[in-house]
Amino acid sequence: MTVAIDGPSGAGKSTVARAAASAVPGMIYVDTGAIYRGIAYTLVTDGTDISDADAVKTALDGIHPSIDYVDGIQHVYINGEDVSDRIRTPEISLATSKISAYPAVRDFLLETQRRIAREHSVIMDGRDIGTIVLPDADVKIFLTASAECRAKRRCDELAAKGTPVTYEQVLADIIKRDKNDSERETAPLRQAEDAVLVDTSDMTLDEAIEAVKQVIGGKR
Ligand code: DC
Repeated sequence: MTVAIDGPSGAGKSTVARAAASAVPGMIYVDTGAIYRGIAYTLVTDGTDISDADAVKTALDGIHPSIDYVDGIQHVYINGEDVSDRIRTPEISLATSKISAYPAVRDFLLETQRRIAREHSVIMDGRDIGTIVLPDADVKIFLTASAECRAKRRCDELAAKGTPVTYEQVLADIIKRDKNDSERETAPLRQAEDAVLVDTSDMTLDEAIEAVKQVIGGKR
């Protein structure tokens, strides 16, 4: 079974998808954003000029991403090195949004994502899973929430991790990434025509998980 969950940054896709996957025996959760982040992290760390699409395209030749699960949690490896704990900074978030707009980066990861879905029963989250990566997914969900709600949740999350940031900064970053992700030419963020819309703005996390489980349950 394949479940595609798309939506903007901070809508709770990963938390909701992970919880929904754990309720279905044999199903794995695939966070595709983390793979894009791993690529962005490597490009930034190696000093590649990420404003230069050709330089990024060339650098991809030396980047080999993979994922694996450690205690049920997805880890991202680049050339065998686990980079999972270095890909969630605001700097890497913006860099990821930038490089994920390049067609060369999207093509580079397309087959990797499809192969994972062929080999496993998956709940895969991202921006173009229902529209491009898995257009024949059994279930498609577009999970969203208002930018303000998403910013508030992200602030709370970062504060809990001991990296407090201002609400205004987080909101500005979210709006910028929404714009990048939905206005880019290649595989922009949009709801697939056959996706079910789940707006979590007024939902608790448990309610959002329940709503997604119900959509999946209705198709099994
Ligand atoms: O889901 P996330 O916030 O970790 O994603 C990070 C960035 O990667 C986001 O700005 C958009 C991009 N992305 C994408 O373009 N396509 C995907 N399938 C997943 C993420």
